[in-house]
Amino acid sequence: MEDGEISSEGKVSTGILGLDSLLFGGVPLRNQVLVAGSPGTGKTLMTFEILYRNAKARIPGAYISFDEHKRSLLDNVKSAFSNFDDVDELIEKNMLVVSEQKVLTSYGSRENFEAFVAGLNKVVKQNSAQVVVLDSLSPMRPLFVNDREFTRAVNLLVENFRNLGATTFITLETESRNINNWSITDLLGTYMFDGLIRLNTVGREGSFQFLIGIVKMRRSNHSNVSMPYEITSKGINVFK
Ligand SMILES: Nc1ncnc2c1ncn2[C@@H]1O[C@H](COP(=O)(O)OP(=O)(O)OP(=O)(O)O)[C@@H](O)[C@H]1O
Ligand SMILES: [Mg+2]
Repeated sequence: MEDGEISSEGKVSTGILGLDSLLFGGVPLRNQVLVAGSPGTGKTLMTFEILYRNAKARIPGAYISFDEHKRSLLDNVKSAFSNFDDVDELIEKNMLVVSEQKVLTSYGSRENFEAFVAGLNKVVKQNSAQVVVLDSLSPMRPLFVNDREFTRAVNLLVENFRNLGATTFITLETESRNINNWSITDLLGTYMFDGLIRLNTVGREGSFQFLIGIVKMRRSNHSNVSMPYEITSKGINVFK
């Protein structure tokens, strides 16, 4: 994809060609999308690439990390995507904001959680981000006494980003790597999300393949086929 090529009526392109094909062009503007997958399936890298591609097309984005320090996140991304040589430049130009946010501050009271959300909003407003990534919800789970409380907090978070008008990708770690018993255990439902993208693997440990599928995407048609993908130095390659 060339610079500036991102744009499909009313949608945010992911900039990942094969993924845009599955999404019939991209994610509808302002949709709140859960990207769920087992450890190591590329949730961090894939969502970072979406912001990177959009930033190159001059659509500002904000990457908010709950589970990694900014420095180590950027080091990991640059090491995996060694062809992305303009990440720092995009950050300098304010097309991309990367921020680490401690989830522990949300612990305890409703006031604390509201202050935490206000902190996130400040990051988003910093460069008028239109596309936002939260990576990941998983470190938030132990701060709540049960799945019900956690689900309620996630609901508030999603509603907040919906009100901000941002198109948001929110990652969550799931338990099984295997597509046959893949499940989201911590949330009581995914009704609060407009979209659900599933990342998992098929095959055995040692010789498995990554698979991506769109489980749901409100306000848009999409492919129901799961496609293999690979993580390369030039980005995520979703096969067509
Ligand atoms: N430098 C690299 N070169 C090649 N592949 C890499 C490199 N770094 C990471 N990967 C691939 O990316 C995967 C990890 O990607 P990523 O960190 O985005 O996954 P994740 O789903 O966010 O994991 P986690 O659940 O730990 O947060 C690894 O399993 C590996 O396959
Ligand atoms: Mg990750």
